[in-house]
Amino acid sequence: MFITILGAAAGGGLPQWNCRCPNCLSARAGSPDVPPMTQSSVAVSSDGANWFLLNVSPDVRQQILDCPELAPPDANGRGTGIAGCVLTDAELDHTAGLLLLREGSVFSVYSTPVVHRWLNAQFPIEPVLSAFSPHPWHVLEDNTRVNLCSGTGEPSTLWVTPIELDAHPPLFVGDVDDAAGSVIGLRIEDEATGGVLVFAPGVETINDALTCAVEGADALFFDGTCWTDDELIRLGFSRRSSKQMGHLPVSGADGSLRWLESLPVKHKVLFHINNTNPMLNRTSAEYKMVEQAGVRIGADGDRFEL
Ligand code: MLT
Ligand code: MN
Ligand code: ZN
Repeated sequence: MFITILGAAAGGGLPQWNCRCPNCLSARAGSPDVPPMTQSSVAVSSDGANWFLLNVSPDVRQQILDCPELAPPDANGRGTGIAGCVLTDAELDHTAGLLLLREGSVFSVYSTPVVHRWLNAQFPIEPVLSAFSPHPWHVLEDNTRVNLCSGTGEPSTLWVTPIELDAHPPLFVGDVDDAAGSVIGLRIEDEATGGVLVFAPGVETINDALTCAVEGADALFFDGTCWTDDELIRLGFSRRSSKQMGHLPVSGADGSLRWLESLPVKHKVLFHINNTNPMLNRTSAEYKMVEQAGVRIGADGDRFEL
Protein backbone atom coordinates (compact mmCIF):
# COMPACT_ATOMS: atom_id res chain seq x y z
CA MET A 1 0.00 0.00 0.00
CA PHE A 2 1.26 3.41 -0.95
CA ILE A 3 0.34 6.34 1.31
CA THR A 4 0.86 10.04 0.53
CA ILE A 5 0.02 12.82 2.97
CA LEU A 6 -1.71 15.48 0.88
CA GLY A 7 -2.27 17.79 3.85
CA ALA A 8 -1.40 17.29 7.53
CA ALA A 9 -3.04 20.40 9.04
CA ALA A 10 -6.40 20.58 10.79
CA GLY A 11 -9.16 22.89 9.55
CA GLY A 12 -7.78 26.28 8.53
CA GLY A 13 -4.39 24.98 7.45
CA LEU A 14 -1.09 26.70 8.23
CA PRO A 15 -1.06 29.66 8.00
CA GLN A 16 -4.80 30.11 8.51
CA TRP A 17 -6.16 33.06 6.53
CA ASN A 18 -7.39 35.01 9.58
CA CYS A 19 -4.91 33.95 12.26
CA ARG A 20 -1.97 35.69 13.93
CA CYS A 21 -0.96 32.94 16.36
CA PRO A 22 2.84 32.46 16.62
CA ASN A 23 2.92 29.57 14.11
CA CYS A 24 0.73 31.35 11.57
CA LEU A 25 2.89 34.48 11.81
CA SER A 26 6.08 32.43 11.31
CA ALA A 27 4.66 30.41 8.43
CA ARG A 28 3.35 33.56 6.75
CA ALA A 29 6.79 35.15 7.08
CA GLY A 30 8.37 32.10 5.37
CA SER A 31 10.26 30.82 8.42
CA PRO A 32 12.01 27.48 7.72
CA ASP A 33 11.05 26.45 11.28
CA VAL A 34 7.32 26.40 10.49
CA PRO A 35 6.67 25.07 6.97
CA PRO A 36 3.15 25.72 5.64
CA MET A 37 0.65 22.86 5.58
CA THR A 38 -2.60 22.29 3.76
CA GLN A 39 -5.72 20.76 5.30
CA SER A 40 -6.22 17.19 6.43
CA SER A 41 -6.22 14.55 3.67
CA VAL A 42 -4.31 11.41 2.72
CA ALA A 43 -4.17 9.41 -0.52
CA VAL A 44 -3.79 5.60 -0.48
CA SER A 45 -3.32 3.13 -3.31
CA SER A 46 -2.45 -0.51 -3.74
CA ASP A 47 -1.18 -0.24 -7.32
CA GLY A 48 0.15 3.33 -7.50
CA ALA A 49 -2.37 4.13 -10.25
CA ASN A 50 -5.81 4.09 -8.59
CA TRP A 51 -5.98 6.26 -5.47
CA PHE A 52 -8.48 6.66 -2.66
CA LEU A 53 -8.60 9.96 -0.77
CA LEU A 54 -9.15 9.69 2.96
CA ASN A 55 -11.20 12.86 3.50
CA VAL A 56 -11.34 15.59 0.88
CA SER A 57 -10.11 18.96 2.07
CA PRO A 58 -10.93 22.42 0.73
CA ASP A 59 -7.29 22.46 -0.47
CA VAL A 60 -7.80 19.43 -2.71
CA ARG A 61 -7.19 21.29 -5.96
CA GLN A 62 -3.73 22.46 -4.87
CA GLN A 63 -3.03 19.07 -3.30
CA ILE A 64 -3.70 17.28 -6.60
CA LEU A 65 -1.53 19.75 -8.48
CA ASP A 66 1.31 19.15 -5.99
CA CYS A 67 1.05 15.36 -6.20
CA PRO A 68 2.20 13.84 -9.53
CA GLU A 69 0.59 10.47 -8.77
CA LEU A 70 -2.86 12.11 -8.80
CA ALA A 71 -2.42 13.79 -12.20
CA PRO A 72 -4.71 12.68 -15.05
CA PRO A 73 -3.34 9.33 -16.30
CA ASP A 74 -1.82 8.91 -19.77
CA ALA A 75 -4.79 8.75 -22.08
CA ASN A 76 -6.58 11.07 -24.41
CA GLY A 77 -8.83 13.71 -22.94
CA ARG A 78 -9.80 13.85 -19.28
CA GLY A 79 -9.33 11.45 -16.42
CA THR A 80 -8.14 11.11 -12.87
CA GLY A 81 -6.13 8.79 -10.67
CA ILE A 82 -8.77 9.26 -7.96
CA ALA A 83 -10.88 6.10 -7.81
CA GLY A 84 -12.80 7.03 -4.67
CA CYS A 85 -13.02 9.05 -1.45
CA VAL A 86 -13.56 7.77 2.10
CA LEU A 87 -14.97 10.16 4.73
CA THR A 88 -14.38 9.85 8.49
CA ASP A 89 -17.00 12.49 9.36
CA ALA A 90 -19.02 15.31 7.79
CA GLU A 91 -16.78 18.21 8.96
CA LEU A 92 -16.16 20.92 6.38
CA ASP A 93 -12.38 20.43 6.40
CA HIS A 94 -12.99 16.77 5.43
CA THR A 95 -15.83 17.11 2.92
CA ALA A 96 -15.96 20.57 1.32
CA GLY A 97 -13.30 19.54 -1.21
CA LEU A 98 -15.78 17.12 -2.82
CA LEU A 99 -17.48 20.16 -4.37
CA LEU A 100 -14.20 21.03 -6.10
CA LEU A 101 -14.07 17.61 -7.81
CA ARG A 102 -17.24 18.17 -9.81
CA GLU A 103 -15.85 18.30 -13.34
CA GLY A 104 -17.23 15.06 -14.66
CA SER A 105 -14.88 12.35 -13.43
CA VAL A 106 -16.66 9.45 -11.81
CA PHE A 107 -15.43 8.29 -8.40
CA SER A 108 -16.98 6.45 -5.48
CA VAL A 109 -17.64 7.87 -2.01
CA TYR A 110 -17.72 5.98 1.31
CA SER A 111 -19.17 7.22 4.62
CA THR A 112 -21.30 6.09 7.54
CA PRO A 113 -25.12 6.29 7.17
CA VAL A 114 -25.41 9.37 9.41
CA VAL A 115 -22.70 11.27 7.52
CA HIS A 116 -24.43 10.32 4.27
CA ARG A 117 -27.68 11.73 5.68
CA TRP A 118 -26.11 15.04 6.78
CA LEU A 119 -24.40 15.40 3.40
CA ASN A 120 -27.83 15.21 1.80
CA ALA A 121 -29.80 17.38 4.25
CA GLN A 122 -27.80 19.96 6.23
CA PHE A 123 -24.93 20.24 3.71
CA PRO A 124 -26.28 18.74 0.47
CA ILE A 125 -23.01 17.72 -1.17
CA GLU A 126 -24.36 14.49 -2.67
CA PRO A 127 -27.27 16.02 -4.64
CA VAL A 128 -25.08 18.92 -5.78
CA LEU A 129 -22.27 16.63 -6.91
CA SER A 130 -24.56 14.15 -8.63
CA ALA A 131 -25.99 16.96 -10.79
CA PHE A 132 -22.57 16.93 -12.55
CA SER A 133 -21.84 13.19 -12.74
CA PRO A 134 -22.73 9.99 -10.90
CA HIS A 135 -20.86 9.22 -7.69
CA PRO A 136 -21.86 5.84 -6.24
CA TRP A 137 -22.11 6.30 -2.47
CA HIS A 138 -21.25 3.29 -0.31
CA VAL A 139 -22.32 3.10 3.28
CA LEU A 140 -19.88 1.91 5.97
CA GLU A 141 -21.66 -0.15 8.60
CA ASP A 142 -20.24 -0.86 12.01
CA ASN A 143 -17.73 -3.74 12.07
CA THR A 144 -18.21 -4.55 8.40
CA ARG A 145 -15.23 -4.83 6.08
CA VAL A 146 -15.86 -3.30 2.68
CA ASN A 147 -13.81 -3.42 -0.52
CA LEU A 148 -12.69 -0.07 -1.88
CA CYS A 149 -13.78 0.07 -5.48
CA SER A 150 -13.77 2.74 -8.16
CA GLY A 151 -16.77 4.74 -9.34
CA THR A 152 -17.30 2.20 -12.11
CA GLY A 153 -17.11 -0.71 -9.69
CA GLU A 154 -13.57 -2.02 -10.27
CA PRO A 155 -12.41 -3.61 -7.01
CA SER A 156 -9.04 -2.91 -5.44
CA THR A 157 -7.03 -5.02 -3.02
CA LEU A 158 -7.81 -2.45 -0.29
CA TRP A 159 -10.44 -3.23 2.33
CA VAL A 160 -11.76 -0.76 4.88
CA THR A 161 -13.32 -1.41 8.28
CA PRO A 162 -14.84 1.55 10.16
CA ILE A 163 -13.76 2.11 13.78
CA GLU A 164 -16.56 3.64 15.87
CA LEU A 165 -15.26 6.62 17.90
CA ASP A 166 -16.95 9.14 20.22
CA ALA A 167 -19.82 10.91 18.50
CA HIS A 168 -19.32 14.58 17.55
CA PRO A 169 -21.77 16.08 15.08
CA PRO A 170 -20.38 19.05 13.12
CA LEU A 171 -21.38 22.53 14.33
CA PHE A 172 -23.61 23.00 11.27
CA VAL A 173 -25.67 19.95 12.27
CA GLY A 174 -26.20 21.13 15.86
CA ASP A 175 -27.40 18.94 18.72
CA VAL A 176 -28.97 15.70 17.55
CA ASP A 177 -30.23 12.69 19.45
CA ASP A 178 -28.60 9.95 17.48
CA ALA A 179 -25.12 10.90 16.36
CA ALA A 180 -23.70 7.36 16.29
CA GLY A 181 -21.36 7.09 13.34
CA SER A 182 -20.64 10.82 13.21
CA VAL A 183 -16.91 10.20 13.68
CA ILE A 184 -15.06 7.05 12.74
CA GLY A 185 -11.52 5.90 12.25
CA LEU A 186 -10.55 3.66 9.33
CA ARG A 187 -8.63 0.40 9.33
CA ILE A 188 -7.37 -0.13 5.80
CA GLU A 189 -5.86 -3.43 4.83
CA ASP A 190 -4.12 -4.29 1.56
CA GLU A 191 -4.79 -7.95 0.85
CA ALA A 192 -1.95 -7.96 -1.69
CA THR A 193 0.80 -7.03 0.79
CA GLY A 194 -0.86 -7.57 4.18
CA GLY A 195 -0.07 -3.91 5.02
CA VAL A 196 -2.44 -2.22 7.50
CA LEU A 197 -3.04 1.49 8.01
CA VAL A 198 -5.17 2.85 10.85
CA PHE A 199 -6.34 6.39 10.13
CA ALA A 200 -7.98 8.38 12.96
CA PRO A 201 -7.84 12.17 12.60
CA GLY A 202 -10.57 12.86 15.20
CA VAL A 203 -10.28 10.95 18.48
CA GLU A 204 -11.71 12.14 21.78
CA THR A 205 -10.97 9.00 23.76
CA ILE A 206 -8.93 5.92 22.99
CA ASN A 207 -11.65 3.27 23.20
CA ASP A 208 -11.56 -0.52 22.88
CA ALA A 209 -12.48 -0.44 19.20
CA LEU A 210 -9.45 1.71 18.43
CA THR A 211 -7.14 -0.31 20.65
CA CYS A 212 -8.19 -3.49 18.83
CA ALA A 213 -7.91 -1.91 15.39
CA VAL A 214 -4.33 -0.84 16.06
CA GLU A 215 -3.21 -4.40 16.79
CA GLY A 216 -1.05 -5.59 13.93
CA ALA A 217 -1.09 -2.20 12.16
CA ASP A 218 1.99 -1.06 10.26
CA ALA A 219 1.05 2.60 10.32
CA LEU A 220 -1.13 4.73 12.57
CA PHE A 221 -2.16 8.25 11.59
CA PHE A 222 -3.52 9.82 14.75
CA ASP A 223 -5.29 13.04 15.78
CA GLY A 224 -2.62 15.66 16.56
CA THR A 225 -4.95 18.68 16.70
CA CYS A 226 -3.91 20.37 19.96
CA TRP A 227 -0.93 20.08 22.28
CA THR A 228 -2.92 20.97 25.43
CA ASP A 229 -6.63 20.77 26.18
CA ASP A 230 -6.98 24.53 26.79
CA GLU A 231 -4.83 25.61 23.83
CA LEU A 232 -7.55 27.45 21.90
CA ILE A 233 -9.15 28.87 25.06
CA ARG A 234 -5.86 30.40 26.27
CA LEU A 235 -5.29 32.01 22.88
CA GLY A 236 -8.82 33.44 23.02
CA PHE A 237 -9.83 31.58 19.83
CA SER A 238 -12.53 29.30 21.23
CA ARG A 239 -14.63 28.69 24.30
CA ARG A 240 -14.38 24.96 23.81
CA SER A 241 -11.51 22.80 24.95
CA SER A 242 -9.76 20.41 22.62
CA LYS A 243 -11.65 17.42 24.09
CA GLN A 244 -14.96 19.27 23.82
CA MET A 245 -14.21 19.61 20.11
CA GLY A 246 -13.54 15.87 19.90
CA HIS A 247 -9.75 15.94 19.94
CA LEU A 248 -7.63 14.29 22.63
CA PRO A 249 -4.62 16.57 23.27
CA VAL A 250 -1.13 15.27 22.49
CA SER A 251 0.60 16.18 25.78
CA GLY A 252 -0.09 15.27 29.40
CA ALA A 253 -0.46 12.13 31.45
CA ASP A 254 -3.63 11.13 29.56
CA GLY A 255 -2.57 12.61 26.24
CA SER A 256 -2.04 10.69 23.04
CA LEU A 257 1.78 10.88 22.97
CA ARG A 258 2.22 8.52 25.94
CA TRP A 259 -0.10 5.98 24.34
CA LEU A 260 1.50 6.28 20.92
CA GLU A 261 4.97 5.87 22.41
CA SER A 262 3.94 2.53 23.92
CA LEU A 263 2.62 1.02 20.68
CA PRO A 264 4.63 -1.47 18.61
CA VAL A 265 3.62 0.19 15.33
CA LYS A 266 6.29 1.00 12.72
CA HIS A 267 4.97 4.37 11.51
CA LYS A 268 3.28 6.49 14.18
CA VAL A 269 2.26 9.80 12.67
CA LEU A 270 0.49 12.79 14.22
CA PHE A 271 -1.94 14.16 11.70
CA HIS A 272 -4.77 16.79 11.51
CA ILE A 273 -2.59 19.27 13.41
CA ASN A 274 -4.04 22.65 14.30
CA ASN A 275 -1.96 25.69 13.41
CA THR A 276 -1.84 26.68 17.10
CA ASN A 277 -0.02 23.47 18.13
CA PRO A 278 3.47 24.43 19.36
CA MET A 279 4.98 21.11 18.15
CA LEU A 280 4.72 22.49 14.60
CA ASN A 281 7.71 24.74 15.26
CA ARG A 282 10.77 22.61 14.57
CA THR A 283 12.86 24.49 17.15
CA SER A 284 10.34 23.95 19.97
CA ALA A 285 10.69 21.72 23.04
CA GLU A 286 7.35 20.14 22.06
CA TYR A 287 8.73 19.12 18.65
CA LYS A 288 11.70 17.44 20.34
CA MET A 289 9.45 15.61 22.81
CA VAL A 290 7.48 14.08 19.96
CA GLU A 291 10.63 13.08 18.07
CA GLN A 292 12.09 11.51 21.20
CA ALA A 293 8.92 9.46 21.65
CA GLY A 294 9.52 7.87 18.24
CA VAL A 295 6.48 9.60 16.76
CA ARG A 296 6.49 11.56 13.52
CA ILE A 297 4.85 14.93 13.05
CA GLY A 298 3.08 14.51 9.72
CA ALA A 299 3.93 16.90 6.91
CA ASP A 300 2.53 17.53 3.44
CA GLY A 301 4.23 15.28 0.90
CA ASP A 302 5.27 12.56 3.38
CA ARG A 303 5.16 9.17 1.68
CA PHE A 304 5.00 5.64 3.13
CA GLU A 305 4.88 2.14 1.70
CA LEU A 306 3.39 -0.76 3.66
C1 MLT B 1 -12.73 19.59 13.93
O1 MLT B 1 -11.73 18.98 13.51
O2 MLT B 1 -13.05 19.55 15.12
C2 MLT B 1 -13.54 20.38 12.98
O3 MLT B 1 -13.00 20.31 11.71
C3 MLT B 1 -13.72 21.76 13.46
C4 MLT B 1 -14.32 22.64 12.42
O4 MLT B 1 -13.70 22.85 11.38
O5 MLT B 1 -15.41 23.16 12.64
MN1 MN C 1 -11.09 19.13 11.54
ZN1 ZN D 1 -2.84 30.24 13.73
